[in-house]
Amino acid sequence: MKFFIDTANLKEIDEARSLGMLDGITTNPSLISKESLFSHKEIYEHYISICKRLKNDENMSAEVISSNYTDMIQEGEKLALLHPKIVVKIPITKNGIKTIKYLSQKKIKTNSTLIFSTGQSILAAKAGATYVSPFVGRLDDVSYNGLNLIQEIKSIYDNYSFETKILAASIRHPLHIVECFKIGVYAITSPLNVIYSLLNHPLTNIGLDKFIKDFHRKINK
Ligand code: G3P
Repeated sequence: MKFFIDTANLKEIDEARSLGMLDGITTNPSLISKESLFSHKEIYEHYISICKRLKNDENMSAEVISSNYTDMIQEGEKLALLHPKIVVKIPITKNGIKTIKYLSQKKIKTNSTLIFSTGQSILAAKAGATYVSPFVGRLDDVSYNGLNLIQEIKSIYDNYSFETKILAASIRHPLHIVECFKIGVYAITSPLNVIYSLLNHPLTNIGLDKFIKDFHRKINK
């Protein structure tokens, strides 16, 4: 059971580490745009800073922004050379599939992203993607149960013993996390605040309040 954090924010990464809930990082262009980074050079240096925070078997997905095959390959290889902990994140398009195939043959790890259907997940696995990232919350946003997709992908991958790992993404609330682990995904990737929301239970707060009050009522006498 692995907790990846979906962020490019160093403070959030350090906080996840201190909580003991950091098995990897996923970023995307939108998350990168939230940081104070204004050039490719700064972004690449930032990726390296994230990687330096990671331990042995942990990694960080960095997404390509090109869309044609040659540029995707070039960008993917450049990202992979930046740091050994970088997994190249590639959108599931025709060129994306070809890029995954090419990079996986070169033993470069890939994360196939923007997965919204089982069909897409099949092509990603056949191409040799290391990870597949189905977007649970964004499917829920359009009235499709995102967790059903996770379940379907899990069944198909199990049927054919694909090595591609399910990295459930677009996690929006604690039940997404619980249900994904019930299905048996390799990892979820989530904002840290959603992981914290797993802690929430009113009976815990009420119980703790009572324990402390009972203790002080006696001790103060
Ligand atoms: O990294 C991709 C994914 O996790 C995005 O999540 O909340 O923007 O749909 P969200």
